[in-house]
Amino acid sequence: MKKYQNKQVTLYQADCLKLLKTLADDSVDLIATDPPYFRVKGDAWDNQWADKNAFFDWLDDVLVEFARVLKPNGSLYLFAGPHLATEVEGVVSRRFNVLNHIIWRKKNGRHLGCCKESLRKYFPQTEHKTKGVFSGRQHFQD
Ligand SMILES: C[S@@+](CC[C@H](N)C(=O)[O-])C[C@H]1O[C@@H](n2cnc3c(N)ncnc32)[C@H](O)[C@@H]1O
Repeated sequence: MKKYQNKQVTLYQADCLKLLKTLADDSVDLIATDPPYFRVKGDAWDNQWADKNAFFDWLDDVLVEFARVLKPNGSLYLFAGPHLATEVEGVVSRRFNVLNHIIWRKKNGRHLGCCKESLRKYFPQTEHKTKGVFSGRQHFQD
């Protein structure tokens, strides 16, 4: 695990599950996370699971830790790739009360690794996020 620190912030570079397990229960105000999308990018980090179910099992393990460390009034913002955003939100909703599905409009979709002219589907100019709040105590509030 690597650690970078200045007066305002401490930044850790680590496997998120290992790091999360070192954090105390109910100790985090906000989780903003952009986890792998599952087979959208060519990078190793996006292709480390044998199939979609293995990816969702890993994501659920992470969400269990998120639910444990997040304060009861805390919030989770989780980014997802457009192809799995709906299913990701379903996995999140097992552990959190989903309040919003946020769509971030992007001016230029080329960063998503596609070429407009070669697409059969609509050009992706958005990115999806789920906002969830802690649901462990089963009293949901909007
Ligand atoms: C969708 S990208 C995030 C990109 C980031 N928002 C940015 O703008 O640079 C997902 C990131 O998760 C990291 N990652 C993959 N598996 C991880 C793990 N087990 N623990 C921590 N980070 C992981 C990858 O290295 C990758 O940088």
